[in-house]
Amino acid sequence: GLWVGVHFRQVCMSFLQLLWYRYYFVLFYRSVLVRMVHDCLTGLSREERAFQYVLTHATPGDPDSILDTFDHWCTEIEFISNIGPKKGLVLDKLLKENCPLTVLELGTHCGYSTVRMARCLPLGARLFSVEMDERNALVAEKIIRLAGFDDDTVRLIVSPSDEVIPKMREDYGVERLDFIFMDHWKRCYLPDLQLLEGSGLLGQGTVILADNVIFPGAPNFLRYVKHSGLYRYRVHRASLEYIRGIRDGMAELIYLGTK
Ligand SMILES: C[S@@+](CC[C@H](N)C(=O)[O-])C[C@H]1O[C@@H](n2cnc3c(N)ncnc32)[C@H](O)[C@@H]1O
Repeated sequence: GLWVGVHFRQVCMSFLQLLWYRYYFVLFYRSVLVRMVHDCLTGLSREERAFQYVLTHATPGDPDSILDTFDHWCTEIEFISNIGPKKGLVLDKLLKENCPLTVLELGTHCGYSTVRMARCLPLGARLFSVEMDERNALVAEKIIRLAGFDDDTVRLIVSPSDEVIPKMREDYGVERLDFIFMDHWKRCYLPDLQLLEGSGLLGQGTVILADNVIFPGAPNFLRYVKHSGLYRYRVHRASLEYIRGIRDGMAELIYLGTK
Protein backbone atom coordinates (compact mmCIF):
# COMPACT_ATOMS: atom_id res chain seq x y z
CA GLY A 1 0.00 0.00 0.00
CA LEU A 2 2.80 2.39 0.97
CA TRP A 3 4.72 1.53 -2.22
CA VAL A 4 1.66 2.23 -4.40
CA GLY A 5 1.11 5.55 -2.58
CA VAL A 6 4.72 6.66 -3.15
CA HIS A 7 4.59 5.57 -6.78
CA PHE A 8 1.31 7.40 -7.37
CA ARG A 9 2.80 10.56 -5.85
CA GLN A 10 5.83 10.31 -8.14
CA VAL A 11 3.63 9.92 -11.22
CA CYS A 12 1.57 12.97 -10.17
CA MET A 13 4.73 15.02 -9.58
CA SER A 14 6.13 14.07 -13.01
CA PHE A 15 2.85 14.99 -14.64
CA LEU A 16 2.83 18.38 -12.87
CA GLN A 17 6.44 18.96 -13.95
CA LEU A 18 5.52 18.16 -17.54
CA LEU A 19 2.65 20.65 -17.32
CA TRP A 20 4.99 23.24 -15.83
CA TYR A 21 7.61 22.74 -18.55
CA ARG A 22 5.21 22.61 -21.52
CA TYR A 23 5.87 26.27 -22.39
CA TYR A 24 9.61 25.56 -22.58
CA PHE A 25 8.89 22.73 -24.99
CA VAL A 26 6.83 25.14 -27.10
CA LEU A 27 9.72 27.62 -27.04
CA PHE A 28 12.22 24.91 -28.05
CA TYR A 29 9.91 23.64 -30.79
CA ARG A 30 9.24 27.09 -32.25
CA SER A 31 12.71 28.61 -31.91
CA VAL A 32 14.86 25.57 -32.77
CA LEU A 33 12.97 22.81 -34.62
CA VAL A 34 10.68 24.92 -36.82
CA ARG A 35 13.63 27.18 -37.61
CA MET A 36 15.89 24.29 -38.67
CA VAL A 37 13.23 22.92 -41.01
CA HIS A 38 12.62 26.33 -42.61
CA ASP A 39 16.37 27.00 -42.90
CA CYS A 40 16.75 23.77 -44.90
CA LEU A 41 13.68 24.37 -47.04
CA THR A 42 14.34 28.01 -47.94
CA GLY A 43 18.14 28.38 -47.80
CA LEU A 44 17.54 31.74 -46.09
CA SER A 45 18.17 32.78 -42.51
CA ARG A 46 15.19 33.24 -40.18
CA GLU A 47 15.86 36.98 -40.19
CA GLU A 48 15.79 37.10 -43.99
CA ARG A 49 12.52 35.18 -44.03
CA ALA A 50 11.05 37.67 -41.57
CA PHE A 51 12.21 40.55 -43.73
CA GLN A 52 10.67 39.08 -46.88
CA TYR A 53 7.36 38.70 -45.07
CA VAL A 54 7.46 42.26 -43.73
CA LEU A 55 8.46 43.63 -47.13
CA THR A 56 5.53 41.95 -48.85
CA HIS A 57 2.89 42.52 -46.15
CA ALA A 58 3.60 45.87 -44.42
CA THR A 59 3.13 49.45 -45.57
CA PRO A 60 6.49 51.15 -46.24
CA GLY A 61 6.99 54.33 -44.25
CA ASP A 62 4.47 53.22 -41.62
CA PRO A 63 6.33 52.01 -38.50
CA ASP A 64 3.17 50.69 -36.83
CA SER A 65 2.31 48.57 -39.84
CA ILE A 66 5.85 47.17 -39.87
CA LEU A 67 5.65 46.28 -36.16
CA ASP A 68 2.20 44.68 -36.52
CA THR A 69 3.37 42.61 -39.47
CA PHE A 70 6.45 41.48 -37.56
CA ASP A 71 4.30 40.56 -34.55
CA HIS A 72 2.01 38.54 -36.79
CA TRP A 73 4.96 36.64 -38.29
CA CYS A 74 6.40 35.91 -34.83
CA THR A 75 3.08 34.71 -33.41
CA GLU A 76 1.74 32.74 -36.34
CA ILE A 77 4.68 31.70 -38.49
CA GLU A 78 8.08 31.57 -36.76
CA PHE A 79 9.68 32.83 -33.58
CA ILE A 80 12.19 35.66 -33.24
CA SER A 81 13.04 37.16 -29.88
CA ASN A 82 11.92 40.71 -30.62
CA ILE A 83 10.75 42.58 -27.55
CA GLY A 84 7.17 42.04 -28.81
CA PRO A 85 3.98 44.02 -28.36
CA LYS A 86 3.39 43.61 -24.60
CA LYS A 87 6.83 44.46 -23.24
CA GLY A 88 7.04 46.94 -26.12
CA LEU A 89 4.30 48.98 -24.47
CA VAL A 90 6.49 49.49 -21.38
CA LEU A 91 9.30 50.68 -23.64
CA ASP A 92 6.94 53.04 -25.52
CA LYS A 93 5.60 54.49 -22.27
CA LEU A 94 9.04 55.14 -20.78
CA LEU A 95 10.22 56.86 -23.96
CA LYS A 96 7.14 59.05 -24.15
CA GLU A 97 7.51 60.02 -20.48
CA ASN A 98 11.23 60.79 -20.70
CA CYS A 99 11.51 62.37 -24.18
CA PRO A 100 15.20 61.38 -24.51
CA LEU A 101 17.31 63.15 -27.12
CA THR A 102 20.19 60.70 -27.26
CA VAL A 103 19.37 57.01 -27.10
CA LEU A 104 21.52 53.88 -27.25
CA GLU A 105 20.25 50.41 -28.05
CA LEU A 106 22.44 47.36 -27.47
CA GLY A 107 21.27 44.39 -29.60
CA THR A 108 19.39 45.47 -32.76
CA HIS A 109 18.72 42.01 -34.21
CA CYS A 110 16.15 42.69 -37.01
CA GLY A 111 15.43 46.26 -35.94
CA TYR A 112 11.98 45.59 -34.42
CA SER A 113 12.73 47.39 -31.14
CA THR A 114 14.71 50.03 -33.04
CA VAL A 115 11.66 50.96 -35.11
CA ARG A 116 9.52 50.74 -32.01
CA MET A 117 11.76 53.24 -30.21
CA ALA A 118 12.38 55.58 -33.13
CA ARG A 119 8.64 56.21 -33.59
CA CYS A 120 8.32 57.35 -29.93
CA LEU A 121 11.20 59.82 -29.92
CA PRO A 122 10.87 63.61 -30.00
CA LEU A 123 11.87 65.50 -33.14
CA GLY A 124 15.64 65.87 -33.47
CA ALA A 125 16.44 62.91 -31.24
CA ARG A 126 19.19 60.47 -32.25
CA LEU A 127 19.12 56.73 -31.75
CA PHE A 128 22.31 54.68 -31.97
CA SER A 129 21.68 50.97 -32.31
CA VAL A 130 24.50 48.45 -31.91
CA GLU A 131 24.55 45.00 -33.50
CA MET A 132 27.62 42.80 -33.83
CA ASP A 133 26.16 40.17 -36.20
CA GLU A 134 26.58 41.40 -39.77
CA ARG A 135 23.79 39.27 -41.24
CA ASN A 136 21.31 40.52 -38.64
CA ALA A 137 22.49 44.09 -39.18
CA LEU A 138 21.86 43.84 -42.94
CA VAL A 139 18.24 42.89 -42.27
CA ALA A 140 17.88 45.55 -39.54
CA GLU A 141 19.17 48.29 -41.81
CA LYS A 142 16.52 47.38 -44.43
CA ILE A 143 13.72 47.26 -41.83
CA ILE A 144 14.73 50.60 -40.29
CA ARG A 145 14.88 52.35 -43.67
CA LEU A 146 11.64 50.65 -44.80
CA ALA A 147 9.98 52.19 -41.73
CA GLY A 148 11.15 55.59 -42.99
CA PHE A 149 13.93 56.49 -40.54
CA ASP A 150 17.05 58.03 -42.05
CA ASP A 151 20.65 57.76 -40.93
CA ASP A 152 20.48 61.02 -38.92
CA THR A 153 17.67 59.65 -36.76
CA VAL A 154 18.72 56.01 -36.50
CA ARG A 155 22.38 55.15 -36.79
CA LEU A 156 23.13 51.44 -36.97
CA ILE A 157 26.58 50.53 -35.69
CA VAL A 158 27.83 47.08 -36.67
CA SER A 159 30.29 46.18 -33.94
CA PRO A 160 30.42 44.51 -30.51
CA SER A 161 29.05 46.75 -27.75
CA ASP A 162 32.25 46.72 -25.68
CA GLU A 163 34.12 48.26 -28.61
CA VAL A 164 31.45 50.88 -29.32
CA ILE A 165 30.74 52.20 -25.82
CA PRO A 166 34.26 53.55 -25.06
CA LYS A 167 34.31 55.36 -28.43
CA MET A 168 30.83 56.95 -28.46
CA ARG A 169 32.16 60.38 -27.55
CA GLU A 170 35.05 60.33 -30.00
CA ASP A 171 33.29 58.63 -32.95
CA TYR A 172 29.77 60.03 -32.68
CA GLY A 173 30.16 63.19 -30.58
CA VAL A 174 27.91 61.85 -27.82
CA GLU A 175 28.33 63.70 -24.51
CA ARG A 176 25.52 62.09 -22.56
CA LEU A 177 23.07 59.26 -23.10
CA ASP A 178 19.52 59.94 -21.92
CA PHE A 179 18.10 56.48 -22.48
CA ILE A 180 19.65 53.04 -22.98
CA PHE A 181 17.86 49.87 -24.01
CA MET A 182 19.85 46.70 -23.29
CA ASP A 183 18.73 43.62 -25.16
CA HIS A 184 21.93 41.86 -26.27
CA TRP A 185 23.54 38.78 -24.71
CA LYS A 186 22.64 38.72 -21.03
CA ARG A 187 26.23 38.05 -19.92
CA CYS A 188 27.19 41.42 -21.45
CA TYR A 189 24.71 43.44 -19.34
CA LEU A 190 26.94 43.89 -16.31
CA PRO A 191 30.31 44.53 -18.05
CA ASP A 192 28.62 46.96 -20.45
CA LEU A 193 26.85 48.80 -17.63
CA GLN A 194 30.21 49.21 -15.91
CA LEU A 195 31.76 50.38 -19.20
CA LEU A 196 28.99 52.96 -19.51
CA GLU A 197 29.64 54.15 -15.95
CA GLY A 198 33.35 54.43 -16.66
CA SER A 199 32.86 56.25 -19.96
CA GLY A 200 31.12 59.20 -18.30
CA LEU A 201 28.16 58.86 -20.70
CA LEU A 202 25.61 58.41 -17.92
CA GLY A 203 24.14 61.51 -16.34
CA GLN A 204 21.82 62.04 -13.41
CA GLY A 205 18.43 60.71 -14.54
CA THR A 206 19.68 58.56 -17.43
CA VAL A 207 17.20 55.71 -17.83
CA ILE A 208 18.39 52.18 -18.59
CA LEU A 209 15.87 49.51 -19.53
CA ALA A 210 17.22 45.94 -19.56
CA ASP A 211 15.08 43.19 -21.11
CA ASN A 212 14.91 39.50 -20.10
CA VAL A 213 16.26 39.93 -16.59
CA ILE A 214 14.05 37.03 -15.40
CA PHE A 215 14.25 34.73 -18.46
CA PRO A 216 16.93 33.86 -19.58
CA GLY A 217 17.89 36.10 -16.63
CA ALA A 218 20.76 38.34 -15.63
CA PRO A 219 21.29 37.65 -11.90
CA ASN A 220 24.78 39.21 -11.62
CA PHE A 221 23.54 42.36 -13.28
CA LEU A 222 20.54 42.64 -10.93
CA ARG A 223 22.70 41.95 -7.87
CA TYR A 224 25.16 44.65 -8.88
CA VAL A 225 22.41 47.20 -9.59
CA LYS A 226 20.86 46.51 -6.21
CA HIS A 227 24.06 46.84 -4.20
CA SER A 228 25.96 49.54 -6.12
CA GLY A 229 23.91 52.40 -4.71
CA LEU A 230 24.16 54.09 -8.11
CA TYR A 231 20.62 53.38 -9.30
CA ARG A 232 17.00 53.54 -8.37
CA TYR A 233 15.45 50.49 -9.98
CA ARG A 234 12.30 48.45 -10.43
CA VAL A 235 11.38 45.33 -12.38
CA HIS A 236 8.40 45.40 -14.77
CA ARG A 237 7.01 41.87 -14.80
CA ALA A 238 5.73 40.39 -18.05
CA SER A 239 5.68 37.13 -19.96
CA LEU A 240 8.25 36.20 -22.59
CA GLU A 241 7.63 37.69 -26.03
CA TYR A 242 5.18 35.72 -28.22
CA ILE A 243 5.04 32.76 -25.78
CA ARG A 244 2.53 32.71 -22.96
CA GLY A 245 3.44 31.05 -19.71
CA ILE A 246 7.16 31.85 -19.39
CA ARG A 247 7.69 34.56 -16.83
CA ASP A 248 10.06 37.37 -17.71
CA GLY A 249 10.69 40.97 -16.72
CA MET A 250 12.45 44.17 -17.65
CA ALA A 251 14.58 46.14 -15.21
CA GLU A 252 14.22 49.91 -15.30
CA LEU A 253 17.21 51.69 -13.79
CA ILE A 254 17.57 55.38 -13.12
CA TYR A 255 21.14 56.55 -12.71
CA LEU A 256 21.56 58.63 -9.59
CA GLY A 257 25.03 59.80 -10.44
CA THR A 258 26.49 59.54 -6.96
CA LYS A 259 27.46 56.76 -4.60
C1 LIG B 1 17.42 39.45 -28.41
S1 LIG B 1 18.18 40.06 -29.86
C2 LIG B 1 17.69 41.76 -29.87
C3 LIG B 1 16.22 41.96 -30.16
C4 LIG B 1 15.83 43.38 -30.46
N1 LIG B 1 16.28 44.29 -29.42
C5 LIG B 1 14.33 43.51 -30.59
O1 LIG B 1 13.63 43.53 -29.56
O2 LIG B 1 13.85 43.61 -31.71
C6 LIG B 1 19.88 40.15 -29.38
C7 LIG B 1 20.84 40.65 -30.46
O3 LIG B 1 21.98 41.17 -29.80
C8 LIG B 1 23.14 40.91 -30.59
N2 LIG B 1 24.28 40.97 -29.66
C9 LIG B 1 24.55 40.11 -28.65
N3 LIG B 1 25.62 40.52 -27.95
C10 LIG B 1 26.05 41.66 -28.52
C11 LIG B 1 27.11 42.55 -28.25
N4 LIG B 1 27.94 42.35 -27.23
N5 LIG B 1 27.28 43.63 -29.05
C12 LIG B 1 26.43 43.85 -30.10
N6 LIG B 1 25.39 43.04 -30.40
C13 LIG B 1 25.20 41.96 -29.62
C14 LIG B 1 22.87 39.54 -31.19
O4 LIG B 1 23.64 39.33 -32.36
C15 LIG B 1 21.36 39.60 -31.44
O5 LIG B 1 21.10 40.00 -32.75
